[in-house]
Amino acid sequence: MTRTALVTGGSRGIGAAISKALKAEGHTVAATYAGNDEAAAAFTKETGIQTYKWNVADYEESAAGIAKVEADLGPIDIVVANAGITRDAPFHKMTPDQWKEVIDTNLTGVFNTVHPVWPGMRERKFGRVIVISSINGQKGQFAQVNYAATKAGDLGIVKSLAQEGARAGITANAICPGYIATEMVMAVPEKVRESIIAQIPAGRLGEPEEIARCVAFLASDDSQFINGSTISANGAQFFV
Ligand code: CAA
Repeated sequence: MTRTALVTGGSRGIGAAISKALKAEGHTVAATYAGNDEAAAAFTKETGIQTYKWNVADYEESAAGIAKVEADLGPIDIVVANAGITRDAPFHKMTPDQWKEVIDTNLTGVFNTVHPVWPGMRERKFGRVIVISSINGQKGQFAQVNYAATKAGDLGIVKSLAQEGARAGITANAICPGYIATEMVMAVPEKVRESIIAQIPAGRLGEPEEIARCVAFLASDDSQFINGSTISANGAQFFV
């Protein structure tokens, strides 16, 4: 069955691959972005996927944006909370602003994205909530106290939502990508990146499409009994 899907941070990186994969499944997709108008316009031109600009860290903006998507495209049955940022610094150098920015965007952003669509999912007795967490929420990471806290928080969110939504036909799952070839990982200093790749038994970074295919399955009607799960996709770098 084809449905309406919302992907936050859906015009770049892993999010862009997710938007495309959901469209390829026949879903109608809305992709949000925070600031890069040029990249969003290019993405829409390339894919035909509509983009919407709002700050996921802001509840009112998110709720208004979601209302607009639903007016344009129909009720949202699939929500992929993917938008995320890094502000890496060793803890002794991490500023309160670096902490707050990451918490507001990556963690509160999940609340702001899912909360407005949740009542509609409950009423329609169907929903798919997919949160893009990270290997670093599972294992922690030097210079990522802020980011790792949010990505570990994602796992608590889906486990709780899964229990609340199960009888209403809603599932909530997290995917923990390892290191994927995106701008975010490419921004890591080259030497550090090389040492990270050396720790991945697969011997390479993952591809965004390898995460997107997993999202497409979790978004499908076939995944109903998978609920509250954390799926790792990291080339055997880390096992929970
Ligand atoms: N483990 C142990 N020590 C480490 C380390 C690590 N992973 N990385 C750096 N260090 C050490 C350095 O060797 C150096 O030690 P010395 O002082 O003894 O030489 C020290 O820590 C670095 O201190 P600096 O004061 O020079 O650090 P800095 O303020 O310049 O910060 C950094 C540099 C921000 C840590 C930079 O190295 C960096 O960005 N590292 C990458 C962090 C990372 O892996 N981020 C993941 C991004 S990808 C992502 O988040 C996507 C996802 O979900 C997987």
